[in-house]
Amino acid sequence: MTNLTDTGAGTPIVWIHGFPLAGSVFENQLTIRGVRHLVPDLPGFGSSTPPSRSMSMEEYARVAIELLDERRIERAVFAGVSMGGYVCFSAVRIAPERVAGLILIDTRETADAPEARKGRIDSAEVVKREGTGSVVESMLPKMLTPKAPDELRVRVREIMSSASRAGTVEALHAMAKRSDSSPLLPALRIPTLVIVGSEDTITPVADSQRMAQAIPGAKLVVLENAAHLSMMEQPEAFNAAVEGFLKSLR
Ligand code: MLT
Repeated sequence: MTNLTDTGAGTPIVWIHGFPLAGSVFENQLTIRGVRHLVPDLPGFGSSTPPSRSMSMEEYARVAIELLDERRIERAVFAGVSMGGYVCFSAVRIAPERVAGLILIDTRETADAPEARKGRIDSAEVVKREGTGSVVESMLPKMLTPKAPDELRVRVREIMSSASRAGTVEALHAMAKRSDSSPLLPALRIPTLVIVGSEDTITPVADSQRMAQAIPGAKLVVLENAAHLSMMEQPEAFNAAVEGFLKSLR
């Protein structure tokens, strides 16, 4: 079962979380008005049950599209942070007619280099044997800047700790085998906003600059004093950027 928050009225936005996180990373975005917020926990994350099949970025995109189908929503803005961004590219690949806009947050379009791919597979083996602790501990310091308040760090740890072992293993394999989305970008005719934290070390500003340059008409917003989870660390500036983007769509 996919856990979904469905709240608000207006332009539908599907908010797709990153790894190893859950839909609650977008809890500060639910105040954006004029939006129907659809926020799933991907299979095996947050309160969703672990996947019963092998996952890929396309499978995660299908989960999001099925949620739209069930609610008879024809088109939505797809917003994804990091792994969620990889899922957004897959949604464009498999069902471009459902994507009314893209918000690409602290993400990148490229596939993993062979070494990173091997790292993911090794990490999946560790998670299978020992649980998700090593992934949480290695990723937590990169999610926020060192200046972030302790309560926020505690909250991020709590969200990460809700990831199941099976969900984490599947997502690691899915990220390792994801395809390169670079060839998609110059042909995109979808309004796009790219947002990145100035101190993101997982998907640095240069990745976002490259994506924004490659996507016709894309707008880039760099948020100061934010790392990988820019929507949690600088929610006001983040929401203002999204509100400006939504206005340009209407
Ligand atoms: C994420 O935040 O989703 C991950 O850092 C993505 C990745 O490891 O490539």
